[in-house]
Amino acid sequence: MSNIFTPKSTKIIEKSNFATEINGKSIRLYKLKNINGVEITITNFGLKLVSLYVPDRDGKLDDIVLGFSSIKDYLHTDEIYFGATIGRYGNRIAKGKFSINGTEYVLDNNNGNNHLHGGTNGFHNLIWDAEVISDTEIQFTRISKDMEEGYPGNLDVRVHYQLTDSNELKINYYATTDKTTIVNMTHHSYFNLSGEGNGTINNHILTINADRFTPVNYDHIPTGELAPVAHTPFDFRNPKVIGTDIKSDNEQLTISRGYDHNFVLNDYKNKDTLIVAAKITDPSSGRVMEVFTNEPGLQFYGGNFLTGKTIGKSDKPYTHRSAFCLETQHFPDSPNQPNFPCTLLKPESTYRSTCIYKFFIG
Ligand code: GAL
Repeated sequence: MSNIFTPKSTKIIEKSNFATEINGKSIRLYKLKNINGVEITITNFGLKLVSLYVPDRDGKLDDIVLGFSSIKDYLHTDEIYFGATIGRYGNRIAKGKFSINGTEYVLDNNNGNNHLHGGTNGFHNLIWDAEVISDTEIQFTRISKDMEEGYPGNLDVRVHYQLTDSNELKINYYATTDKTTIVNMTHHSYFNLSGEGNGTINNHILTINADRFTPVNYDHIPTGELAPVAHTPFDFRNPKVIGTDIKSDNEQLTISRGYDHNFVLNDYKNKDTLIVAAKITDPSSGRVMEVFTNEPGLQFYGGNFLTGKTIGKSDKPYTHRSAFCLETQHFPDSPNQPNFPCTLLKPESTYRSTCIYKFFIG
């Protein structure tokens, strides 16, 4: 995997670690802070969450997301999507192809035979316009042009971040199009509730509100089945230490080298209804994170592709399974899976997706 901003024609002017210009466009870092001292920094480059400070049971603030301390590191590290906003389509589309009303669209196959996370020049690698609304709110906008990365329709996208005084990070996504297209946006922070770079997350306790998950084939594409989690390592219906079943002899764990699966959320209704998706606790710090969404799915990715070669913002190596992602979403490859909830966006409607990460002590 390579990064978009490595071509020789790219002109980078660095004024500080984050105040940088790329091909004449300014990159900035923005900070939001609530009354409890919870703080995020986010850059308009790929809308990457660069840091997230949350108190532990003693009130000590730690940064609980993986990331880098300069734009250069984001530009020159092989793509791992740290903290990124993913679009137009989160996760994989088989063979990078889908059809709408008989017209086939061909996308960038940036992940083996498949299209992943919107392609090489997906939303995570683009510079957005920012509008600071208050100390706790910011929104970003972008027009994704017709056929950008192969997707049809001019897509008008807005992403709104809010840090509430109840320690919630609320992310709202909106999009409209002038031609029928597909949209499935998500957020790709790698969390470690003990603090970034602070060892494995296999000791965190996870609950996922899902009776079923979508198994994948050897190409990491859903088979189409909605399989019961009961009697499998994928049963997180009651709080379970993540590492409990990680070494079990299970074909799905082998294929994905660990947890990297979409869960079918039990209470999904429609885009107007928020449901509880997951809860995760770190016994050592006391930090708890709950995830709410209006989406039908949740990707639980256990950091299987982290190897320790990537050195993070505080000079610590990001070792195997030292972070998790909980990505609210429609199911992977939905455009090619007739029995999955639909991801089509028509010109007369508005795409609206919500993801809330709520923090407290438990
Ligand atoms: C996850 C995806 C994984 C992997 C990861 C990025 O969202 O499910 O398979 O691609 O992103 O390394």
